[in-house]
Amino acid sequence: MKNTQSNRFIRLFGTFVAGALLVLAQSCTSDPNSPGVEYMPDMYRSPSIETYVDYGVVGDSTSTELVNTQSARLPAPNTVPRGWNVYPYDNNLEGYEAAGEELMNPLVLTKEVMEEGKVVYGKFCVHCHGTGGKGDGKVAKNAKYNAVPPAYDSDELKNLEQGKMFHSIHYGKNKMGSHAGQISWEDRWKVVTYVKYKFMQKELGDSLLALNAAEEGDVEAEVAQPQEAVSEAESAEKDAETVATPNGDETAEATNE
Ligand code: HEC
Repeated sequence: MKNTQSNRFIRLFGTFVAGALLVLAQSCTSDPNSPGVEYMPDMYRSPSIETYVDYGVVGDSTSTELVNTQSARLPAPNTVPRGWNVYPYDNNLEGYEAAGEELMNPLVLTKEVMEEGKVVYGKFCVHCHGTGGKGDGKVAKNAKYNAVPPAYDSDELKNLEQGKMFHSIHYGKNKMGSHAGQISWEDRWKVVTYVKYKFMQKELGDSLLALNAAEEGDVEAEVAQPQEAVSEAESAEKDAETVATPNGDETAEATNE
C-alpha cells in the first residue's frame, strides 16, 4: 500500500519535472532576440490593430499574407486630408504679389474674431512681434536672433494687403518662419484680422467694429474687403473667393468620398 502511494508520487513528480524541462527547453531558441515560443500569442499581440505593429511577423515566423499590414499607412498618392487647403500661390515674389491682389479675408470684422485672433497672436506671434506689435517681443530682443520685425504700424507695414500677410504666414518671410503646419486657415485669417485692425490700422478697425456692431451683418461685403476697391468684373476676384473658403470644402470633399 505505502509502496504504491510513493510510487505514484514519484511518477507524478517525474512527469511534472519532465514537463517543466520540456517547457524550458522549448522557450530557448538560438536567436538571442527571439522571445521564444509563444504559448498564448494573444498575450503578446493584441487582436486589435495597433499603430506601427507589423502583423505579418509573429515570433520567428512571417506570414506573407499579413506582412506589412501595419495600421498607420501612408495616404494614397495625390490626396489631401479632409479640411486641408491647397495653397495655390508659389513661394516667390509673383506668388506674393498675386496673393496680395487676389486673396481676400473672408471674415467679417467682429469683436469675437478680434478676440480669437488675439489668442492666436498670443500663441504664435507675440514673442517676436511684441504685445503692442512694435517688433519688440522677447525673441526679437535677444541678440542671438539677429532680426527685428518692423512695427506693424510703420510706413512699411501699415498698408500691407491682407493677402500678403496671409502669404507671409504661410511661407514665412526671411527670418520669420512658416506657420503653415501650425495654424489652420481660419485661425490665420483671424490673426490677420487682429494684426490688421489692432496694430496696422487701428482707427479704421475701431470704426468698422462699431459700424458692424450697430448694423450687425448688413455690411459684410464692405468689411470683408476693406482695403482696395476691387473691380467687380475682374475674374481674379472669382478665383480668390474660391481660394478664400476657410474650410476648403471643395478640395477636401473631392478626395474623400
Ligand atoms: C521668430 C519670430 C517671428 C514670429 C514667431 C512671427 N514673426 Fe512675423 N515677422 C518676423 C520678422 C523678422 C519679420 C520681418 C520679415 C522681413 O520682412 O524680413 C516679420 C514680418 C511679418 C509680417 C510682414 C510680412 C510681409 O509680407 O512683409 C507680418 C504680417 C507678420 N510678420 C505677421 C506675423 C504673424 C501674424 C505671426 C504669428 C502667426 C508672426 N508674424 C510670427 C518675425 C516673426
